[in-house]
Amino acid sequence: MNRLMVAVLWITVKGGLNYPFEDPELSPDMFQGDIGIPPLKQRNGMNTALHLWPNRTVFFEIEPNKFRDEHMALIRQAMNTIQEKSCVIFRNATEAERSSSLLITSQNKGCSTLVLGFRNFTNKMNLQLFDPGRGCFRIGSIIHEFLHVLGFEHQHVAQDRDQFVRIAWENINPEFKINFINNDKISNFSSFGETYDYDSVMHYIPTAFSKNGMPTIIPLKEVGQRMGQRLGMSEIDVRKLNKMYKCPGYV
Ligand SMILES: *[C@@H]1O[C@H](CO)[C@@H](O)[C@H](O)[C@H]1NC(C)=O
Ligand SMILES: *[C@@H]1O[C@H](CO)[C@@H](O)[C@H](O)[C@H]1NC(C)=O
Ligand SMILES: *[C@@H]1O[C@H](CO)[C@@H](O)[C@H](O)[C@H]1NC(C)=O
Ligand SMILES: *[C@@H]1O[C@H](CO)[C@@H](O)[C@H](O)[C@H]1NC(C)=O
Ligand SMILES: [Zn+2]
Repeated sequence: MNRLMVAVLWITVKGGLNYPFEDPELSPDMFQGDIGIPPLKQRNGMNTALHLWPNRTVFFEIEPNKFRDEHMALIRQAMNTIQEKSCVIFRNATEAERSSSLLITSQNKGCSTLVLGFRNFTNKMNLQLFDPGRGCFRIGSIIHEFLHVLGFEHQHVAQDRDQFVRIAWENINPEFKINFINNDKISNFSSFGETYDYDSVMHYIPTAFSKNGMPTIIPLKEVGQRMGQRLGMSEIDVRKLNKMYKCPGYV
């Protein structure tokens, strides 16, 4: 192999492993890659009623002219999935609700959510335009951002994570080690009685924030092979969302 071939192969392999941060959910300038304002506590899901959407209703506005029909259809599909699997509903914000609604836009790079849960200001979800099925327009990526909006953090900061994954600190780009810290002991976050979920749509890919293309999250059990799927909510994601919003039958 000549040097050029080696270089091309190297780039190809690294690209396949998401090196350095090609995944649009793993932006270097966001907390944990896609959260604008770091949560006070780093755990799995909020159980602070104050920051849950009132009456289990997310009132949103889609910024006009930012999405094509095919993108609108996928955003709608993600909302429908969440509505069908839980008691959470999505509806257009009224004028009066705008100041604490969810604004969905494509104006920035990457896929991200400004802040976890419902706030006293406009939350903002960014979905950079990609062809359907790619990047931020994988259905699971859109659902992932909606679950941040509803109050969930990433799976790997759950309190029980060290029993299920090894964080390979030696492979994490030092600048981004913060994204893997989960040492809060007192907090209003909870896993809602559910076990660590490798299949969660909130789980990182195994090489997230790697400095060398090697895994940063290594499953300790055999069932951990699908980490980072963006196809849809896992069964445990569904249960946790229903428990978070105290849906009928889950209280
Ligand atoms: C957080 O949890 C503590 C202890 O359970 C509780 O006293 C406090 O009111 C909670 N804070 C909020 C904002 O819900
Ligand atoms: C709460 O949501 C339910 C179901 O959509 C609706 O019927 C009801 O009017 C809402 N209540 C308030 C106070 O907004
Ligand atoms: C929600 O708002 C959009 C954009 O203004 C509008 O096209 C749509 O018809 C509205 N949907 C409902 C149910 O009011
Ligand atoms: C929300 O913000 C508004 C305006 O900044 C303020 O008047 C109101 O008291 C705030 N509410 C809460 C619950 O913080
Ligand atoms: Zn995320």
